[in-house]
Amino acid sequence: MSSKKAAARRRRAAEPDVSVAVARAERRLEKFSAARSGSSSRGASLGDSVAYAAIVLGVCLMLSSRRIPVHRPEDFAPMRRAGRLAARALAHVEPHVVPGVDTETLDDVVRAFLSSRGARAATLGYRGYNHSSCISPNEVVCHGVPSKSVVLNAGDIVNVDIAVVTSEGWHADVSKTLFVGGIESADANARRLVDATRDALTAGLDECRPGVKIGDVLEPIKRKLRAEGFGIVDRYAAHGLGRRFHQPPTIRHGSHARRGAGFKLKPGHFFTIEPIATEGGSVATATLRDGWTVVTKDRASRSAQFEHTVGVGERACEIFTRDGDDDDDDDDGR
Ligand code: MF3
Ligand code: CO
Repeated sequence: MSSKKAAARRRRAAEPDVSVAVARAERRLEKFSAARSGSSSRGASLGDSVAYAAIVLGVCLMLSSRRIPVHRPEDFAPMRRAGRLAARALAHVEPHVVPGVDTETLDDVVRAFLSSRGARAATLGYRGYNHSSCISPNEVVCHGVPSKSVVLNAGDIVNVDIAVVTSEGWHADVSKTLFVGGIESADANARRLVDATRDALTAGLDECRPGVKIGDVLEPIKRKLRAEGFGIVDRYAAHGLGRRFHQPPTIRHGSHARRGAGFKLKPGHFFTIEPIATEGGSVATATLRDGWTVVTKDRASRSAQFEHTVGVGERACEIFTRDGDDDDDDDDGR
């Protein structure tokens, strides 16, 4: 099938939910007003019309807010550029993650890198968040706010999470957990936690292809982490993205991690997979008074996270945020 036809088919496939539901609501309301006014809907009162409009609008909003955007084949190239930029920003800051550095300095490095590439962080100004990264050491689960007062030490583990928006307006989100002072500085449990989380994400992404359910991707991630005795955080979800930073679907690494569960992956879906594992197996969290920083409830159990932005192609999933600087920009690879 030509890619134009495929794109048209995808657009159609993305739409019928709304029109079908509206038609159904219309039929129901017609019956309802006919019943109320005797024989014909012509006698319907103004109140009925307002109720009718409200219901139709409500159904439309509900369905459109849940609909997973299906992107066009030509949207892969700008996503690839966004993903590569995010991966490069992360690779660029990595050597700065050394004992004694504070996390605000790391955030400055990220901001400068992105601005030198004509881009910026998607998190900058997002719901009042004013940083170009989230930097989450040890017991910080996610959304660690960069600060002069958060200084990294040898033996710490730290997640660096970077979401970018390119000058073309496309978003990509990537993160990894690093060993401060190198892996030799880390204790055995920290190594196990970080390695298991990285390997679990890889195992999940290996299952990613069109036609499978999102639960099929998540199941091996959860299974591997649970087998190591780690918790898997459900509360902070992975998400669709593209022209927007966050859009449907919402993907929960704990509760959606069952074979056959959830939505079916279609060519043109773009989303993140970003599992967070916790030491000890508890996944209870608390948010600090800054309104952002999420920590394990016991404030002692450490956590690790890895994240990639992927797109579902015609045959396989493409990891937009994989490291590497070799490929060409324009091949859409589908
Ligand atoms: N990268 C995080 C995500 O998955 C960013 C959360 S929003 C922030 O969406 F403002 F806290 F950064
Ligand atoms: Co994200």
